[in-house]
Amino acid sequence: MKKVFVNGYGSIGSRITSFLKDDPEITVFGIGKYSPDEKVTDAISRGLNVYVPERKLDDFSNYKISGTIESALDECDLVIDAAPGGHGYKNKKNLYEPKNIPAIYQGGESTVGEESVSDLLFNSRANYDHALGKKHVMQGSCNVTGMGRILEPLREKFGNELVRFDVTLVRRWADIEQTEKNVSDTIEMTEKPHHGDDVKLYFGKDAPLYVRAIKVPTRQMHLHIMDIRFKETAPKPSQIHELFADEFGVATLWTAKGTKDIRDYAQNMGFNFTDTNMIHIHANMTTSIGDTVQLMYSDDQTGIVIPENHMLLQAMLFDKSYEEAFAHTESIFHMKEKKQKLQENFAKNN
Ligand SMILES: NC(=O)c1ccc[n+]([C@@H]2O[C@H](COP(=O)([O-])OP(=O)(O)OC[C@H]3O[C@@H](n4cnc5c(N)ncnc54)[C@H](OP(=O)(O)O)[C@@H]3O)[C@@H](O)[C@H]2O)c1
Repeated sequence: MKKVFVNGYGSIGSRITSFLKDDPEITVFGIGKYSPDEKVTDAISRGLNVYVPERKLDDFSNYKISGTIESALDECDLVIDAAPGGHGYKNKKNLYEPKNIPAIYQGGESTVGEESVSDLLFNSRANYDHALGKKHVMQGSCNVTGMGRILEPLREKFGNELVRFDVTLVRRWADIEQTEKNVSDTIEMTEKPHHGDDVKLYFGKDAPLYVRAIKVPTRQMHLHIMDIRFKETAPKPSQIHELFADEFGVATLWTAKGTKDIRDYAQNMGFNFTDTNMIHIHANMTTSIGDTVQLMYSDDQTGIVIPENHMLLQAMLFDKSYEEAFAHTESIFHMKEKKQKLQENFAKNN
């Protein structure tokens, strides 16, 4: 049984931990906490061992912690870093490399420049095999992962017929559980968003992909507005939708009025953390005009990267083939079933 440590227990770390506990091939050795708050008690009540940085031991004297993060890492086979953006790089230098432990990083880190955590940005749909045998890999962020789920199938099907992709990312302000974060009443423009460059790391550096981003006051998912230009007349919307009928982690919905409808449905259905773990094509919004397809899809910001982390873990820890890893991830996340339920609930009105 392989032992995994999850360093950071926020939106991403708590989700990853929860799913890993359902994986019979893995033991969650423990989680790393940095602030002595109610989440320590919460984690312990869920049966998790909580570890803290050696320098902060005194701050946690009122909690029943299991030891230091430094000592826990000595016992583990792999660490999933779920730290706030930028801290993963510091952890790599100060902890993971000195202890020679393989590590997965999240999308707030970088794969270029001086503070790069890895030369590989993972997207299971595009480059699963590249992660086999790797020691340090970054999982793409939620927006970057979502774009991959659309772009790869399009490229496989239409190849040279494609001319360019123009994408506007409408990003959520904060996550649902980040109650400490105010959602400001403004539309914020993002200068030089990293997402396009990140996608090109797996989609090809010369890919004709142009990305703009804004942030809007909502906690309910991201929405991507994508224009896909073709050399000749663009395919019909139905041909685009057909392409995603059997795609992992892509649901095609017709009657969701907004992103909150989907989140509410996930909550009513008892989906873990109210996540769908996927993107949702808003099929009623797809149009085909001349050489261009206009597409909109929403992206479950917190959920989408969790099965991806699980796929990545299997490549790095067990050297599994894509097919084996996919089947195992599916047995834990039940993505096919969730997709089907979503599609039935938001089916086209006749
Ligand atoms: N939220 C999303 O929708 C989303 C989606 C995709 C990717 N990501 C990426 O995932 C990463 C984590 O984001 P998040 O939203 O989960 O953040 P978050 O909710 O703010 O949680 C961050 C966690 O990291 C812990 N932490 C603080 N300092 C740390 C350190 N030096 N090393 C390790 N952990 C540390 C914090 O512990 P304490 O609470 O104990 O201080 C907290 O539990 C970021 O790279 C982010 O860009 C986020």
